[in-house]
Amino acid sequence: MKNKIGIVTGANSGIGKVTALALAKQGFTVVMMCRNRAKAEAAQKEIVRLSGNPQVEMIWVDFASQRQIREAAAQFLSMHDCLDVLVNNAGFLASDKRQLTEDGIEATFAVNHLGYFLLTGLLMPALEKAATQNGEARVVCVASEAHRYAPFNLDNVQLERGYSGIKAYCISKLCNILFTAELARRVAGKNITANSLHPGAVNSGFAQNTPGWFAWLFKIAKPFLMSEEEGAETSIYLATSPEVKGISGGYFYKKRLRRNMIPIAKDEKIAQQLWEMSEKLTNISY
Ligand SMILES: NC(=O)c1ccc[n+]([C@@H]2O[C@H](COP(=O)([O-])OP(=O)(O)OC[C@H]3O[C@@H](n4cnc5c(N)ncnc54)[C@H](OP(=O)(O)O)[C@@H]3O)[C@@H](O)[C@H]2O)c1
Repeated sequence: MKNKIGIVTGANSGIGKVTALALAKQGFTVVMMCRNRAKAEAAQKEIVRLSGNPQVEMIWVDFASQRQIREAAAQFLSMHDCLDVLVNNAGFLASDKRQLTEDGIEATFAVNHLGYFLLTGLLMPALEKAATQNGEARVVCVASEAHRYAPFNLDNVQLERGYSGIKAYCISKLCNILFTAELARRVAGKNITANSLHPGAVNSGFAQNTPGWFAWLFKIAKPFLMSEEEGAETSIYLATSPEVKGISGGYFYKKRLRRNMIPIAKDEKIAQQLWEMSEKLTNISY
């Protein structure tokens, strides 16, 4: 497994940190893409210590900024020409006050969906190189069962009408599933796979600092939630297991392929339309 390269976004805490540690333990060169320097540097030290693997690199990026995503991808490509595994994991639950990013996009849609879309597109040359050189490349997208509650309407994905933080989150997680399925169709035959997953309800940093009823509920439920290690199992499985080599376009939970998503999550036409909209919003085509 030596010499393989993996990126984990949002790797300074929670599911992402455990995933980065697992990749490091398996001998990957791990690139953590994070925005919080203090947390990320502490996590990087811990991952190096626990894995015994010094090849743990850091790239700073706030996924709310398309400029920063472009800079992060360029920095990665200046250091590496191959990318074997990309784990799109960074995500958050916003507050009930609708906020726009510097690109003028609703923040949850921007970070949780367009962040995955833009980064993957920018890194496609490196994924393709790994697929040719090493026989495969994998894209893993952390989605959620929250997709079931998305009030989805392509004309209102940024919730200009009827915004709430939780609605925006559910829409973004449905977008993760639609994006991953469409990506899998577009890269079919190139030795690149793309799968999404639900990690479970995990006792991580998720929703810790978000005001509102959902975050409050999440805090109350903490003792009953899965550990971060359990929550990362499916991400690690999809990123590294030989069992899923060549399997693409799936949505997984507990390392099992799930087919019981809501109908819209399987709608190829909607996925294609979302893709085209995402291309326009990020100025990238792939
Ligand atoms: N926990 C659950 O029950 C659960 C359930 C279903 C799905 N998920 C999904 O699992 C993924 C990981 O979440 P988690 O549970 O591990 O929560 P977490 O501990 O809060 O980790 C989220 C990570 O994403 C990063 N992040 C958020 N916004 C970012 C931004 N704008 N730019 C860069 N990094 C950003 C965070 O960085 P900072 O430390 O800088 O904030 C953090 O490293 C998310 O996509 C979430 O939607 C979680």
